[in-house]
Amino acid sequence: MASPPASTPSPAGSIQWSPDSWRSRPEAQRIDYPDAAAVERELAKLRSLPPLVTSWEIEKLKQEIADAQDGKRFVLQGGDCAETLDDCTPGAITNKLKILMQMSLALVWGGRKPVVRVGRFAGQYAKPRSSAVETRVVNGSPVTLPSYFGDLVNGAAFTPESRTPNPHLLVRAYQHAALTLNFIRALVEGGFADIHHPEYWDLSFMRHASLPADLRAQYEQMTRSLADGLRFMEVLGEARVEELTRVEFFTSHEGLNLLYESAQTRTVPRREGHYNLSTHLPWIGERTRQIGGAHVEYFRGIRNPVGIKIGGTTSPEEVRELVGVLNPSAERGKIVLITRLGAARARERIPELVRAVRACGSPVLWVCDPMHGNTVSTPSGLKTRSFDAIRTELETTYDALRASGAHLGGIHVELTGEDVTECVGGATDITEDNLHTNYATLCDPRLNYHQALELAFALARRLSQNAS
Ligand code: PEP
Ligand code: CO
Repeated sequence: MASPPASTPSPAGSIQWSPDSWRSRPEAQRIDYPDAAAVERELAKLRSLPPLVTSWEIEKLKQEIADAQDGKRFVLQGGDCAETLDDCTPGAITNKLKILMQMSLALVWGGRKPVVRVGRFAGQYAKPRSSAVETRVVNGSPVTLPSYFGDLVNGAAFTPESRTPNPHLLVRAYQHAALTLNFIRALVEGGFADIHHPEYWDLSFMRHASLPADLRAQYEQMTRSLADGLRFMEVLGEARVEELTRVEFFTSHEGLNLLYESAQTRTVPRREGHYNLSTHLPWIGERTRQIGGAHVEYFRGIRNPVGIKIGGTTSPEEVRELVGVLNPSAERGKIVLITRLGAARARERIPELVRAVRACGSPVLWVCDPMHGNTVSTPSGLKTRSFDAIRTELETTYDALRASGAHLGGIHVELTGEDVTECVGGATDITEDNLHTNYATLCDPRLNYHQALELAFALARRLSQNAS
């Protein structure tokens, strides 16, 4: 089914959709660039550069999301809260791919179905902020500067030069997304880590970090049984072996800076409609999902599958309206609802949300982001999240969806392949006192390598209880 053609009037008003029709809507998290002409010059450059992804790949992901909506696949979406230009290094990229692969292996094993891997990478450079400005005491006096909005917009350093929104970063971020994606595509093409041979790649991963003994034993047992299972299926000539073992990555990021997104939104030969060719799966964040706002206006016209973050205060009516506006023709594979309700609210909120979605008739994929509803500040002012709360929200969401007649089709996590100390708890027992050891994030606290793997195991166990 087709998304609304460009001539469809907006349900929230009377304007016609175009890649730039959002400009006439109120824009939450709008960036005020000091030099409007410089912005237009950079956007013209962006429009002339090649796309980062293709419509063919986007349609393939949409089909895989449709399969996941039917319970035939599971989606793993993860990566940094904020990618940085400095992080565009071979080590950081391969470590992220490795942890996503390891987690997906655990999920394949637990759920007995193919896992769709979607990175929060190659474009996750823009961040929403709760305040447009930040005040710090510098040399004894308070100084107020624009907040850091991600490397797509400005620099993290607390100086006027760095914090002033810089339009050149629009093209620089695009270039770094291209470099990241180029490396990922080359690794995947070259058989970087073929799940077909887990006995080969797990050895290199095991050296990566000191996993707690019980997790290591469980992981080794799992890779062995998976390898045996795959060999057995291969001998039987099972067609699904190929599918289960192929390593493939899709990209995603929050579609926050609509200048960046719309400059890469195009028509393509032999397909209808417009595609955002900067990423496969853009999502609308919790702070920008106002019906009648610029982001919803932009997103309603693109052919990509679309993620929508659903926070703890979202009403069922809002969810129904959002899904209706973004998927009026009830297309399969189109809508990914990413709940981030917080551990304390998930059980109570899920049933009414499921009822609301059912009433609007559009298929959706329920994905749990157990990170963003569980952020707290330590007395010393560091943002952190407790591993227990993250795990509880994930398990509660899984159970509550099942009890409501829906199913959890994916997980959305902020993680890194490095040994950072940003979230407390987990088997390696990071405490508030040792958060400072390697607190590296420029934005939200991420799961480190151990914690990410441990979470995947916890979920895999849940999935295995109900796997057919
Ligand atoms: C994020 O995913 O980094 C984010 C800002 O999430 P949310 O919009 O759910 O707060
Ligand atoms: Co975040």
